[in-house]
Amino acid sequence: MPKKIVSVINQKGGVGKTTTVVNLATSLAAIGQKTLIIDLDPQGNASTGVGIPQNKRSSTIYNVFSKNVEIKDAIHHSGISNLDIIPSAVELAAAEVELSGQRNLLKEILKNIHNDYDIILIDCPPSLGMLTINALYASNSILIPVQCEFFALEGLSHLIKTYETVIQNIDGNQDLEIEGVLLTMYDKRNNLTEEVEIEVRKVFGEAVYKTVIPRNIRISEAPSYGLPVMMYDIACPGSIAYINLAKEFVQRNGIVI
Ligand SMILES: Nc1ncnc2c1ncn2[C@@H]1O[C@H](COP(=O)(O)OP(=O)(O)OP(=O)(O)O)[C@@H](O)[C@H]1O
Ligand SMILES: [Mg+2]
Repeated sequence: MPKKIVSVINQKGGVGKTTTVVNLATSLAAIGQKTLIIDLDPQGNASTGVGIPQNKRSSTIYNVFSKNVEIKDAIHHSGISNLDIIPSAVELAAAEVELSGQRNLLKEILKNIHNDYDIILIDCPPSLGMLTINALYASNSILIPVQCEFFALEGLSHLIKTYETVIQNIDGNQDLEIEGVLLTMYDKRNNLTEEVEIEVRKVFGEAVYKTVIPRNIRISEAPSYGLPVMMYDIACPGSIAYINLAKEFVQRNGIVI
């Protein structure tokens, strides 16, 4: 079974990165993939989203970076079968500075647990600092959520330029691929959604997932219960979409389930 490390990334804030990490990871776990989330955002929303609030984080990725804790000891079980997480901490914001010059630290650290998981998803912060650079160096591919709204079109060319530069500059990781581009907060009743979809599919072609994630209130309610959406309301459109995304993800990667 192919091992895959995927960074979920977009320097624009609030586009659905964390929501996608939590719910894609849960769906992949549900179809039997041993999955690990690494919460690399000091905001810690992915950790909270799988039921690990701040007071339950005995050790974090920050402690691992600081070399106080072995990576295996920072792994928390999410309560969902097949799904583990290494949580974030607010102190992680300091790592942006402390990691200065250390682009390969996460990659080196992950070698110790690489074989324990089928898929590792990294939730990146909305910036292109050292945390994100570490995520990119450690990854095989990037998954880019794009929110279906006006500024998506404006931000798109910027996004492409940035990633082309980043990908070209990652020496020793020329294989970093685009895993997929995901349309999020999709609203059929909004004309703009269609415009964004046409544009994004024109620019990214086959890389864009057929599955789109609808704007769905259940998706935004679930994190306040510390639950992925499919544990909160399995039948809602958001749950169905993320389950379909997981199926498309494994199909693209030739993973037999
Ligand atoms: N499909 C959706 N339908 C409705 N609400 C959504 C959907 N996807 C995300 N949201 C909500 O939009 C907000 C932003 O989503 P999310 O936190 O996943 O974005 P992000 O890209 O990780 O943000 P940041 O850049 O701050 O890390 C959250 O409140 C989330 O619950
Ligand atoms: Mg986020």
